[in-house]
Amino acid sequence: MTVTLRVLVDEQVHELQVEPGTNLRRALLEAGFTPYTDITRRANCGGRGLCATCGVWIETGELAPQHWHDRIGSAFGYPRLSCQVTISSAMTIRILSDKRIWGGPDWARRWRN
Ligand code: FES
Repeated sequence: MTVTLRVLVDEQVHELQVEPGTNLRRALLEAGFTPYTDITRRANCGGRGLCATCGVWIETGELAPQHWHDRIGSAFGYPRLSCQVTISSAMTIRILSDKRIWGGPDWARRWRN
């Protein structure tokens, strides 16, 4: 059984079918999408939750952050670290096509739990 991962890139909508338990960053990269910029595509921590360059907005299906770095960033409205998100059910995410290295905060999106 798979779940649908909708990927929004600017005005385009893409749908992927992924196995529950798949890492979000890995699913994006394997499908040819990137959560990174041109620079951070080569200079990142490889999914260890250290560099904060893999951030995406989660539009629906957001799960509580588990990793300390993702938890702190989320509390202040920063994009979620895709390398620290495990897909468990249908989810819609938005690629930040306007970020330079990290995405800026959006106070309305801060995690409140
Ligand atoms: S790849 Fe470095 S924090 Fe996600």
